[in-house]
Amino acid sequence: MQIVNNISDVRKIIKQWQREGLSVGFVPTMGYLHEGHASLIEAANKENAKVVVSIFVNPIQFGPKEDLDKYPRDLERDSKIVETSGGDLIFNPSPSEMYTEDFSSFVEVNSLTDGLCGAKRPGHFKGVCTVVTKLFNIVTPDKAYFGEKDAQQLAVIKKMVRDLNIPVEIIGCPIIRENDGLAKSSRNVYLNSEERAAALVLSKSLEKAKEALKSGERSSEKIRDIIMGTLSSEPLAQIDYVEIVDSISLTSIDYIENSILIAIAVFIGKTRLIDNFTFKL
Ligand code: PAF
Repeated sequence: MQIVNNISDVRKIIKQWQREGLSVGFVPTMGYLHEGHASLIEAANKENAKVVVSIFVNPIQFGPKEDLDKYPRDLERDSKIVETSGGDLIFNPSPSEMYTEDFSSFVEVNSLTDGLCGAKRPGHFKGVCTVVTKLFNIVTPDKAYFGEKDAQQLAVIKKMVRDLNIPVEIIGCPIIRENDGLAKSSRNVYLNSEERAAALVLSKSLEKAKEALKSGERSSEKIRDIIMGTLSSEPLAQIDYVEIVDSISLTSIDYIENSILIAIAVFIGKTRLIDNFTFKL
């Protein structure tokens, strides 16, 4: 397993693989890898001859008051996870390698980014789409793997790839959870023990919504009330959003009759966590 920092070297290695007829799977990450990332690398390893993992904390997808500076970083630990999960190459560029001083081109996906995290984190998806496009152009993978925990990100990237004819297949992989239900996230490391216990309210509230849907409840308002009620019972939780949307268009719906995405974002102390599930009728 090799670690490469510059774009021209990573291109040379991948071009050589492709000349040999080897397929390339790609897992873009911001590092501080956990079992969720490992599951993406394992999925890529099963379906491709070679697996590239990028580790890059992308500055342009963070808002001015967000956690760019304190975002956890540990390349040594990440390298072990990539290697044991079946990765062949880590692309770990510096910010200046990715963004020259005169950088001025951006990629934006409209409408799908209007709600959910897009509404709460202005500019976030512009930063994500720009860096993912750059990474796709550098790595030129056959398939790229993204977690369903970032459901809006996955939908936005699928749309971007379709709209811009980027020749890559996007594969969504299921959310990986701790034994008690908390969705794995690099940001879970910010939680102290009291907050870690409080964070369970996210998955609990979604479980209650799932039960209600299974029992036949179809009113978005009632499902939303169930989730809000559970979240509000936790004193350390501050709701950022609770949304029930069509799983393709990501627009709000009143009555549940098709495939829906229920997505929540909640601050536990200062840490913003997200979770979701898709429900198909
Ligand atoms: O999901 C992430 O970790 C990031 O948004 C991504 C896709 C690696 C782009 O920086």
